[in-house]
Amino acid sequence: MNYRHAFHAGNFADVLKHAVLALCFEHLKAKAKPFRYIDTHAGIGLYDLTSDEARRSPEFEDGVQRVIAADKPADVAAALKPLLDAVAACNEGEALTAYPGSPQVAAALMRPTDRIQLCELHPDDARTLDQRYAKDARVKVEARDGYKALKSILPPVEKRGLVLIDPPFEHRDEMAFMAEAAMTGLNRWPTGTFIFWRPLKDLWAQERFDVGLAEWLIAEKQIAPEKILRADLWVRDLESDGKLAGAGVMVVNPPYLLEDQLLALLPWLAEALRQGDGAGWRLDGGIAEDSLLVDEF
Ligand SMILES: C[S@@+](CC[C@H](N)C(=O)[O-])C[C@H]1O[C@@H](n2cnc3c(N)ncnc32)[C@H](O)[C@@H]1O
Repeated sequence: MNYRHAFHAGNFADVLKHAVLALCFEHLKAKAKPFRYIDTHAGIGLYDLTSDEARRSPEFEDGVQRVIAADKPADVAAALKPLLDAVAACNEGEALTAYPGSPQVAAALMRPTDRIQLCELHPDDARTLDQRYAKDARVKVEARDGYKALKSILPPVEKRGLVLIDPPFEHRDEMAFMAEAAMTGLNRWPTGTFIFWRPLKDLWAQERFDVGLAEWLIAEKQIAPEKILRADLWVRDLESDGKLAGAGVMVVNPPYLLEDQLLALLPWLAEALRQGDGAGWRLDGGIAEDSLLVDEF
């Protein structure tokens, strides 16, 4: 386990993932009933943007920093507000010195009655998380494999909430591990909201995951196609060499209105965060019907 998220904190991929996460929290808060957030691959919760790791190749400068600095039309500002509120809450004044990971986005936005369950396999990172949230009664940290944990922790007693599955993609079979976890999780909790993050790197494996998941959900779980949403962003040509060019999420059981909010946000993000030719975005539901790969199966 060599992956350290500190090198990437606040980059374009984090901005999209955390904007979706933050919007989901806001929708869940529309009802008074408490909900649970489960983060299978939690990281360390909060990232110091002045650290050696973050400064080595400051990806946040082309991510969250650009988003904060840019002029935003009203609908984009509204879609980004929950995430930017969480970013502001961990910084003092105007300076951007810290960026919230998914646990901290949750801690900033969730209510005293809601619950946060974090799994992190790296022992040092799990300890950091544990110390960070030691005084927060809403948070439970477990130093364990988040995929395996799903079997015992789903469904949550609250019967409402959200699971984020955000693995490091160090292993070449990670997409297959995530697919297996998706089936375990959704078999145990078919009405939960699930966010699956994946890089747009091995495009065949990613498409196979997306389409396979959508087809399985529709055929086996009778989930309507419009309850499967895909949101992707790429900041330069996906075929270009070098650093990660694109990433996004598959959201199962997305909150009502998330698609409309992302429709406002994604084109703006693609323009604001572009790093070269060929930047773009896509937002779609019903991918099992549309996908080219379906013909190949
Ligand atoms: C991409 S980072 C998570 C970032 C975090 N979700 C965020 O958005 O701020 C992936 C994390 O998963 C951890 N990890 C790797 N394999 C794991 C597993 N099987 N179970 C739980 N954590 C794992 C890594 O140590 C790393 O901290």
